[in-house]
Amino acid sequence: MKQKGLLYTGKAKSVYRTDVKGRLIVEFRDDITAFDGGKKDVLVNKGSYNAEVSAFIFGYLEKNGVKTHFVTMLDSKRMVVRELSMIPLEVIVRNVAAGSIVRNYPFVEGTKLNPPVIVIDYKDDSRHDPMLNDDLIVALRLATRHELEKIKKTALGINRLLVKLLALQGITLVDFKMEFGRAGRTIYLGDEISMDSMRLWDRKTGESLDKDVYRFSKGDVMATYDRVAGRITKKMVVKAKPAKAEPERTPRR
Ligand code: C5P
Repeated sequence: MKQKGLLYTGKAKSVYRTDVKGRLIVEFRDDITAFDGGKKDVLVNKGSYNAEVSAFIFGYLEKNGVKTHFVTMLDSKRMVVRELSMIPLEVIVRNVAAGSIVRNYPFVEGTKLNPPVIVIDYKDDSRHDPMLNDDLIVALRLATRHELEKIKKTALGINRLLVKLLALQGITLVDFKMEFGRAGRTIYLGDEISMDSMRLWDRKTGESLDKDVYRFSKGDVMATYDRVAGRITKKMVVKAKPAKAEPERTPRR
C-alpha cells in the first residue's frame, strides 16, 4: 500500500489517502494538546504509545463483535483504516464522575455512575464542543434517531468490554470518548481509543494514568504512557499450577 496526499490534519493525528480504494492511513503524531489547543507540546514517542493501545483495543473490540475502522498497523505510528464519513459527535461514556461533569454539574468527583452516563458533544473546537441532546442532533441532521439509538447501544457495549479488559489490569475506566463514522449504511467506531481519549485511574492508588497527567501537570507523561500501554497490551499470563513436588523418598539401603 502506498501513502498518498494528506487528507486531514487534526491536533494529534494526520490522515492520508492511499492507493487502495476505501483505505486511509492514520498517523499518530507526537503532538499533545489540551484545553482546546491552549496547551501544546511534542512528546517523543507519544504517538507510538497511543497507536499501540488503539490497535490493541480495536482488535479486542473486533474479536467481540464491534465494527471498527481498524485494518492493520504499517509501523509503530501508522494505522491502516477503513475510510469513513465521520459523524461530528464526541460520544462520551462515564462510569465515574470526573472532569467536565464535575466542573459543570453538582457531582462529587469519584461518585460511581451506575448505570453509566452517556454525554454527546458537538465536535467543533470553535464552539468549544457544546453538549447536544437527541433533538438537537436530529435537527442539525448529524444523525437520524435510528442511528443515534444504534450509536448509544454500541457505545454502552464497548464500555462494558473495556471496563472488563481494564479491570483485569487493575485499572478503572472512569470515562472515555468515541467517534463514529459511516461506510455505506453501516456505522463503525473510528478515531482512536488511547490514553488521550480515556480517563483511567489505578484501582489501588487512584493515580491518573492518562492525559490528565499532562493536562494538570501531575507528573512524567511519557513514563505514565509507557507504563499504562504496557499494562493494557500485556498478554494475560495464566499462571500454571506448580507441579506437585515428588514426595521425597528415603533412600533404601
Ligand atoms: O473533559 P471531559 O471530562 O468532558 O472528558 C471526558 C472524556 O472524554 C475524557 O476521557 C477525555 O479524555 C475525553 N475527551 C476527548 N476529547 C475531547 C473531549 C474529551 O478524548 N475533545
